Order: sequence, then structure tokens, then C-alpha cells
Amino acid sequence: MLDIEALLNDGPVIPVIVIQDAEQALPLARALLAGGVRVLEVTLRTPAALDAVAAIAAEHPQAIVGVGTVTRPEDLARSAAAGAQFAVSPALTRSLVAAAREGALPLLPGAMTPSEVLQAREAGFTALKLFPAAQAGGIGMLRALGSVFPDVTFCPTGGIDAVSAPDYLALPNVACVGGSWLAPPALLKAGDWGAIEKLARATSALART
Ligand code: 3PG
Repeated sequence: MLDIEALLNDGPVIPVIVIQDAEQALPLARALLAGGVRVLEVTLRTPAALDAVAAIAAEHPQAIVGVGTVTRPEDLARSAAAGAQFAVSPALTRSLVAAAREGALPLLPGAMTPSEVLQAREAGFTALKLFPAAQAGGIGMLRALGSVFPDVTFCPTGGIDAVSAPDYLALPNVACVGGSWLAPPALLKAGDWGAIEKLARATSALART
């Protein structure tokens, strides 16, 4: 099974994808892959999400496709059955911990406060999504968390864009960032895959220090 730490180190940015129409999945994945982004988080926010995951997994084996917005324990098994390789949740609950222990998919759980970080670490998770990152305090919050939890690695997500991403990536406790700016709804709707490829190329060139 995929190792979450390795996943976070695959590239500087994980695109947070909302697919309204499963037909968009393959051209979107092709554009992101062509731009050098291969870890793809398809959020379970739309009825098309799992069909999109299945299509990407079948047609683009070089992609590492997973699901986001996991909020129910049953989401893990049904996403694994569709072909997902990892799961991201906005927060962590006891039922999600129990489902993750069943082992269908590796989970990157969200946390927003020191208590949540501690609870997640006690449950065995040392790679966490800081969510919503900018609203939780952004760079300052990550520095403060780094002082007390030096063994925890973060993928901050929420309110980050191409301009602010490098400042996050420069932090020692940040492995990568997540964001929806790589798959903007307007470009998806317009089918402007060339523009998405360009965004992906610019993003995958962002340096981690
Ligand atoms: C989300 O859940 O939508 C992610 O946190 C992405 O947030 P963003 O749209 O601010 O990048």
C-alpha cells in the first residue's frame, strides 16, 4: 500500500479536484500529468467523483489517484473499490480511525488545532493535512505547530494559491501543499485543458527547500 509520507513527497502540490461531469476526468488527468502533476485528489463532493476516479485509474496508470473530502468511514472501502490509492479527510473521527485501520486505503487526515494534531498522532498518524490552512493561521500556525510537534509533517490545504505556496513549501514541517487552483471550475467547464497543463507545469516547478 502507498506510503502517505512518500505520497506527500511526490510533488510540491496536490490538486484538489471537484469533478462535475465524469467526462472531464480523463482530459483533466491528461493535462495535469502532461504538466508534471501525477498525484490527483478527486473530492467526494459530486456524484461523478467515483466514476472519475475509476476512469483515471484505468486509463492513466502513471497517475496516483486518490479521493478527498472523505467524511464517512464507508468512503474508504468504496473509494478503494473504484481504484483510489489514497484518501484525504478534512478532519479525523473515531470511526474514520477505525475504518483506516481496516486498511482499505492509506489516509491523510485533516487537523486544525494542537488538540487535533495530538489526537491524530495518538491514533498513529504523523502526516496530516492542516485544514483549512490559511484560515487556521497559515505560516505562523505551521511554525508554532512545528515547535511542539517536530515529528509531524503537514500538507496544508485551504486558502493557498500559486503565490503563497512557495512560502508554505519553505517550512521544514511542510512536505507539500494542496489546492484547488490547478483545476479551476471555469477552465474545467470550458474544457481549456491547455491552460490547466500550463498551470500544472508552473506548479510542479515550485521548489521545496
Ligand atoms: C478544499 O477542500 O476545497 C481544499 O481545501 C481546497 O481549498 P482551496 O479551494 O482554498 O484551494
